[in-house]
Amino acid sequence: MGIGRLPFLGYINVQISVLITFYNDSLFISSAEMRSSPVCLSTCFLALFLAAALAAQPRKPIDVPFQKNYVPSWAGDHIKYFNDGNEIQLYLDKYTGTGFQSKGSYLFGHFSMQMKLVPGDSAGTVTAFYLSSQNSEHDEIDFEFLGNRTGQPYILQTNVFTGGKGDREQRNYLWFDPTLGYHEYSIFWNSYLLLFLVDNVPIRVFKNNKDLGVRFPFNQPMKIYSSLWNADDWATRGGLEKTNWINAPFIASYRSFHIDGCETSVEAKFCATQGRRWWDQKEFQDLDDAQYRQLAWVHQKYIIYNYCSDRSRYPTVPQECSRNKDV
Ligand SMILES: *[C@@H]1O[C@H](CO)[C@@H](O)[C@H](O)[C@H]1NC(C)=O
Repeated sequence: MGIGRLPFLGYINVQISVLITFYNDSLFISSAEMRSSPVCLSTCFLALFLAAALAAQPRKPIDVPFQKNYVPSWAGDHIKYFNDGNEIQLYLDKYTGTGFQSKGSYLFGHFSMQMKLVPGDSAGTVTAFYLSSQNSEHDEIDFEFLGNRTGQPYILQTNVFTGGKGDREQRNYLWFDPTLGYHEYSIFWNSYLLLFLVDNVPIRVFKNNKDLGVRFPFNQPMKIYSSLWNADDWATRGGLEKTNWINAPFIASYRSFHIDGCETSVEAKFCATQGRRWWDQKEFQDLDDAQYRQLAWVHQKYIIYNYCSDRSRYPTVPQECSRNKDV
């Protein structure tokens, strides 16, 4: 799977979105028509070309302003905008944190943003970036960044909920200081797997293990959310380190609000273009060797907690763990 190659490819996704409308129309030409009609020479060629374009791996645009894909969800006055929304900052003070969410709902795709986390003494604060469906048996894919005292390492906690069941926490340190500069955090989701990536390095995979009886998110559209809030009851050293309000406001910065997903209504049960998008193609159905090596590297050097190896919580190893290379 080549999601790691994303940034190096040509700019074709702008064209793709223009072409999709065309593609959807031309798709329904029957094969009989294709053989007999003289119109077919041009139309069918176009249909094939567009099918290829739709499946091709698009280039991720760098400057995607906030307002293209997102709206504030609460305490909008604690979000500040810079450079026409190409960069924003979330503020947390004694009174409130804040958050934002995607305008659209999606079934599968690639979602990323660049974030610079709360610098200095961030103990007690949590910054999150996650996908979630809105129903009771909900699906959710979480990145949560747990702040720390100055000079102490942030923890990145990830979790996956399927059908309302979570309890699949993993925690890792990062190989850089996430407060010094922007880094890209992304979620890749197709019907084969979910992937958490940090600067295009896969840090966690959650495969579709429905054959083992483990639910996988496939029929509940999700929105993308981000928020910054005070969680000093649990976040830093298990709640021992409290938020020091003398340092407020706490500020997390964001840019590059990229979304490339199958947009659906909130109630939709499937994606109309399922199977034909770039993320459905063969090369994205599993990680490639280089990505498995990167995943192993993260596991060896940076994982500090893994539900898969927590025998007090799970006397027997959860079903999905070996497939996900977590044990
Ligand atoms: C904060 O720093 C302490 C001491 O280095 C460390 O044990 C802990 O994992 C760090 N992160 C959090 C979020 O508690």
